Amino acid sequence: MFRQKKLVFVILNTLLVTRVSNAINTRAFPDDFIFGAASSAYQVEGGWNADGKGESIWDYLSHKNKTFIWTGENADVACDTYNKWKQDILLLKDLGVNHYRFSISWPRVLPTGYADWLLINDINEPGIVYYRNLIKALKENNIEPVVTLQHFDLPQYLQDLGGWPNPNLVDYFADYARLAFREFGEDVKYWTTFNEPRQVCQYGYGSWVLAPAISTSGVGDYLCTRTVLLAHAKAYHIYDEEFRTQQNGVISMVIDATWEEPVSNRTEDVEAAERQLQFTFGLYGNPIYNGNWPRVVIDRVGFRSEHENFTKSRLPKFTHEEIEYIKGTYDYVGLNSYTTELVGDASEEEFGQPSYTKDVRIETSTDPSWNTTAYSWAIVPWGLRKLLKWVKDTYNNPKILVTENGCSDNGTLDDDMRIDYHRGYLSAVLDAIHEDEVDVFGYTAWSFLDSFEWIMGYSQPFGLYHVDFTDDDRPRTPKKSVGFYKKVIATHCLSDEECTK
Ligand SMILES: *[C@@H]1O[C@H](CO)[C@@H](O)[C@H](O)[C@H]1NC(C)=O
Ligand SMILES: *[C@@H]1O[C@H](CO)[C@@H](O)[C@H](O)[C@H]1NC(C)=O
Ligand SMILES: *[C@@H]1O[C@H](CO)[C@@H](O)[C@H](O)[C@H]1NC(C)=O
Ligand SMILES: *[C@@H]1O[C@H](CO)[C@@H](O)[C@H](O)[C@H]1NC(C)=O
Ligand SMILES: *[C@@H]1O[C@H](CO)[C@@H](O)[C@H](O)[C@H]1NC(C)=O
Repeated sequence: MFRQKKLVFVILNTLLVTRVSNAINTRAFPDDFIFGAASSAYQVEGGWNADGKGESIWDYLSHKNKTFIWTGENADVACDTYNKWKQDILLLKDLGVNHYRFSISWPRVLPTGYADWLLINDINEPGIVYYRNLIKALKENNIEPVVTLQHFDLPQYLQDLGGWPNPNLVDYFADYARLAFREFGEDVKYWTTFNEPRQVCQYGYGSWVLAPAISTSGVGDYLCTRTVLLAHAKAYHIYDEEFRTQQNGVISMVIDATWEEPVSNRTEDVEAAERQLQFTFGLYGNPIYNGNWPRVVIDRVGFRSEHENFTKSRLPKFTHEEIEYIKGTYDYVGLNSYTTELVGDASEEEFGQPSYTKDVRIETSTDPSWNTTAYSWAIVPWGLRKLLKWVKDTYNNPKILVTENGCSDNGTLDDDMRIDYHRGYLSAVLDAIHEDEVDVFGYTAWSFLDSFEWIMGYSQPFGLYHVDFTDDDRPRTPKKSVGFYKKVIATHCLSDEECTK
């Protein structure tokens, strides 16, 4: 019965969708809009133990458990960017990007993760030199580095101490951040503290899908989030107090979200979609932009914890000082988004084993008319427009940098699907800017190169450039989408005709 009802809603929704979609916006991107491409250390660098680098949780787990990565692969060599960075900068220069988003491998600069100022050996000098060279060369080529401090690859040494659920990591991360600002900050104007921490907390400490693959859903995931928020805030305050006046950059967190479209207009479903947004983006966004956990998260986790006979909520409480310490620690919003799903309300699950998904209490589905990527993610450009508008309305109109957006396909060089994807999503960004007056100042394509995509190994190519992982030399070849993106960057326009301002 419920199923049938739902089907009707899906069909209604489809009608609505077709009306909103597909025409490419013919307005121009603002003159100062920045276009870039992205990567992350573990996914491209290789050199996993080169020149004194320490082990990350991904090195550790991919070596220890051969079935953790579904394809049985690892990123020991990956794109070999550790050795090929000079040639990559030539590619980026040819592409014409304004910025390149990459991450620093924490264990490459601090092999144990720990920066004790008295023990000079804690700092791995070749790691520092590697990033310093990369950053200098980018600047020489007029490409702005957008640097992430922590993109999934926690030093294993700190995982041995419990990883992110351990609140002591706040200080370890803060020391690492200070080192990065001190060593590289003169040339870095855009910092991001964490990349997609909800993926790490929800899937790394709440399931087995990401390293460290510790399944403590409903408890460890929230503890992880709490530490990450405090670590982020501490790094932000360090930047503010010790570096900002000389270095003049901006710093924020990169938060990921899927657009959550209500499966129907029923109040329960509309609330379920909003609840899912609050339990994903809001779990990080609300403490940072508005202050404290989202109300609905406090209420839901409190309610279920009580019925599970916990003596207090599984959601750790912030003190008043902590709320104030975290609130406002952003200079822009870094947003990663790839897809959209339909959300409906679900019935309350039995009380027993704690669980994040039971706390959220939703059902997700997709519209059968939506095209999908090789990852089976729905391609729904208007979802990004709605998400950008939601961020604007929920968080008081912040400046937004789209820090990731892209699609995986079958690896062909003739990647028309990728071109259509980026054109559609860039058009949605234009709609957000021109129709909804959202303050989006840049877009970053994921990814620069075909990369190691976590548990999917090399099976999900997202790159503008193809990488041949079977060849020791890891040759790069531009795909057709390079030509497309180059033209967009050069003209600030998506249409074949000249764009209007
Ligand atoms: C929801 O309501 C809007 C505006 O009232 C309407 O245009 C739309 O068709 C409705 N959507 C569904 C799925 O019923
Ligand atoms: C290795 O990883 C797989 C896939 O996540 C998992 O099913 C298995 O339990 C893991 N093995 C060990 C020994 O942890
Ligand atoms: C909580 O405690 C009550 C009273 O002892 C009991 O009836 C109920 O089954 C418990 N709930 C769970 C989830 O253990
Ligand atoms: C799905 O893909 C096909 C083939 O590329 C295209 O013709 C169609 O317009 C797409 N549908 C939507 C809803 O984008
Ligand atoms: C890969 O996808 C393209 C369309 O984007 C298609 O033309 C090509 O046949 C596909 N190749 C394989 C090997 O499936």
